[in-house]
Amino acid sequence: MKRVFKIEGQRPLNGTVRISGSKNATVALIPAAILSQGGPVTICDVPEISDVENLTVLLNELNVNVFQNNEGHLIVDPSNMKNVPLENAAVTKLRASYYFMGALLGKYKEARIRMSGGCYLGPRPIDLHLKGFEALGATVEYDKGMYYIHADDLRGARIYLDIASVGATINIMMAAVYAKGRTTIENAAKEPEIIDVATMLNKMGAIIRGAGTNTITIDGVDCLQGCFHEIIPDRIEAGTFVIIGAAAGKEMIIENIIPQHLESLISKLKEMNVNIETEIDRVIIHGGNKLVSADVQTQPYPGFATDLQQTITVLMTQAEGSSMVRETIYAERFKHCQELNRMGARIDVSVPRSMIHGPTPLYGVEVTATDLRCGAALVVAGLIAEGITTIYDIEHIERGYENLDGKINELGGHIWIEEVE
Ligand code: EPU
Repeated sequence: MKRVFKIEGQRPLNGTVRISGSKNATVALIPAAILSQGGPVTICDVPEISDVENLTVLLNELNVNVFQNNEGHLIVDPSNMKNVPLENAAVTKLRASYYFMGALLGKYKEARIRMSGGCYLGPRPIDLHLKGFEALGATVEYDKGMYYIHADDLRGARIYLDIASVGATINIMMAAVYAKGRTTIENAAKEPEIIDVATMLNKMGAIIRGAGTNTITIDGVDCLQGCFHEIIPDRIEAGTFVIIGAAAGKEMIIENIIPQHLESLISKLKEMNVNIETEIDRVIIHGGNKLVSADVQTQPYPGFATDLQQTITVLMTQAEGSSMVRETIYAERFKHCQELNRMGARIDVSVPRSMIHGPTPLYGVEVTATDLRCGAALVVAGLIAEGITTIYDIEHIERGYENLDGKINELGGHIWIEEVE
């Protein structure tokens, strides 16, 4: 039996939705918490998603005590931790399990872990992470799907990233917190999730400066402690709901949002003639405007996020004229286009670009979520399509969106899970 999403489209959405804690921050903060040598780390606003369940499996393997307290906060207590090899299949269920490389190397000078998994978006090498570990004094071996990373001593180093990689920046930060002396990461990624991880590590006692700029320094310390940390709101979930509001909303209020994190999306939506108001921690969208086409090029933060490229494509199918999406981060992130064309869209893909010719009505058919954000895009498409849309492979969506169906139903949509053969 397979679980599918069914969506009855064309119901106007109205009301308020609250955004959960950031998935891409959470999946780094949980491995970062094991760096504590003095008591538990308490993390507030952890989203209920399957990526967190899989990270919990890995924490259990490492004999880290992890549980939810009465207030719903996640407690990660590494007091009795053991640095065993991470061979569990849970490693391959998500991308972010690679953060245990940096965290274990930082704490024990040794990490043994399987190759991580995650959405297929074309090749996703981790050479920059490994070069960073080597610059700190580690040796890296790869044998039969396992990485063996070891250092006699970790020493601060100057590391230039050829690409401003989110994962490499965070992994190197974690490996360097206990290294002797100063580590400098140049051409570091600037995503808000990096600032969030640096903020938590600093609360634990690390000395990290410059997170959010392209030069980060880490001065090694001897001991990190537990702390309390509240995760930033998920800018990609927020962006997804903003796009839902623009596509299918009457009046939608999106709360627990940091509008600054969404500047590139909001200005693009204004260009498309979406009626959108921004307040301190919420955004209000008035639907019903006639949309016009626009072009988008994905860029590292603060540019237009690749993780919102697939969902804005759906909105472009409803806009007058031809829109272009140029993907500069993951050349093959276009699998959603084929699915959208099955629903009635007219999208031509010529990697790394797609041309969307609108407006076209969409119809409910059977489609497949080939990856997480493709799944989100298909949900948006289902909400505006005529008839019932069936989405297969929803486990991709459940990796990264907390209670997506429940939140949409609260707004007046009709989406439900069915089991099919
Ligand atoms: N890259 C390399 N070598 C490396 C690392 C990256 O060539 O060692 C390349 C990648 O192939 C890609 C580019 O550099 O072309 C940027 O990759 P980055 O390392 O920044 O991405 P990531 O850390 O693997 C995170 C998010 C992704 C998001 C990207 C870009 C997590 C767990 N994942 O991935 O999120 O798309 O940054 O912002 O934080 C998602 O949430 O759906 C998702 C895929």
